[in-house]
Amino acid sequence: MDEWKYAHERWKDVVWMSQNTNTIPTDPAIIDAIISAAKERVYNLYPYKKGSFGLPEAIKDDLGLPDFDIHITNGGIEALYILNRALLSKGDEVIATDPSFLPIHHQMTLSEAKPVEIGIYADPYKMKAEQVNEAITDKTKMILLIDPLNPLGTDYRRNEVKAICEMAKDNDLWIVDDITYRDFSEDHTLTTDFYPEKSIVVYSFSKNCGMAGMRIGAMLAPPDVMKDLVKYDTNVLSVNVLAQRAALTALQTKENWLPNVLRISRNNQEKIKSAVEKIDGAFLPVFPSFTNMFVIDISELGIDPDKFEEKLLYDHDVFVRSGNYVSKRFGPKFFRVSFTVPEDHCDRFVEVLGPAIESLR
Ligand SMILES: Cc1ncc(COP(=O)(O)O)c(C=O)c1O
Repeated sequence: MDEWKYAHERWKDVVWMSQNTNTIPTDPAIIDAIISAAKERVYNLYPYKKGSFGLPEAIKDDLGLPDFDIHITNGGIEALYILNRALLSKGDEVIATDPSFLPIHHQMTLSEAKPVEIGIYADPYKMKAEQVNEAITDKTKMILLIDPLNPLGTDYRRNEVKAICEMAKDNDLWIVDDITYRDFSEDHTLTTDFYPEKSIVVYSFSKNCGMAGMRIGAMLAPPDVMKDLVKYDTNVLSVNVLAQRAALTALQTKENWLPNVLRISRNNQEKIKSAVEKIDGAFLPVFPSFTNMFVIDISELGIDPDKFEEKLLYDHDVFVRSGNYVSKRFGPKFFRVSFTVPEDHCDRFVEVLGPAIESLR
């Protein structure tokens, strides 16, 4: 059976902990922005190519990057596609991690480049500057820094970002700063603080303000870099205008909704931690998480995470994700769960976790 079809058919009943999306209600003004844009029938026109008025500036303000150029995209994933096609060619190597968000690695291979995946499924569960240094060869072109990291939940301290940027600078590498989960970190540092000239920042509205289905994000780069990136723009007719209006409103109202999203997300991760502690042999490699997800290691229990994912979905309408989606090497050891869901949804997961594990043991 197709799990995605199953889950989407009954999407309102499903507890969505599988996509790191966010189903916690945010600000009603965001919904109003979508409805009023629809009622005005602004969708009759192709949107203004440089972005709905106010949106590019609001994103730059959010990051404190007034001098960067910005390109609005269909989610961060389109930004990643464009930059991977524009900057990589046959034989190039990109330093990345395992686990990681693997669709980005796939995009690199479309340019016939090779992701060099540093294994990080061990303390401190993130790339160390020494590992990056060892992985650099004369073919290395780029470093992919996902910070905070999907799926493990780690983030990088300022000195760690600095060390990785210095390595990139010394070797004249691009650094892709994928900040999809930035708002979940308590103290996030952009690579642009240390190495603006070859940093490309990937921005998303999918996780923090729960707009994954609107498909909107952005790419930011220094102006001389952006002009080469946009040659590979896959969508010269611009991005859904309702999504752009919603995104602008989300940024304008951020202080109304973000604290509540963070509060619920942190309560939920505490609840899950307590439930995991009651299961002999299961553990959380990373806690607390500075994203909206973490992984639960079940390797000692002899349970296949793919089977666990199926069981939770089909028996309980709770959707989590097997580690195999985010790691070729370590995937069989864990499953990933995201907790930007309403508290009663998290309670449903916590209730079924122990019994589901027992039944598969
Ligand atoms: C690290 C990372 N980058 C990019 C994306 C894509 O996000 P978007 O919905 O903005 O395309 C994801 C989605 O899960 C992600 O985890």
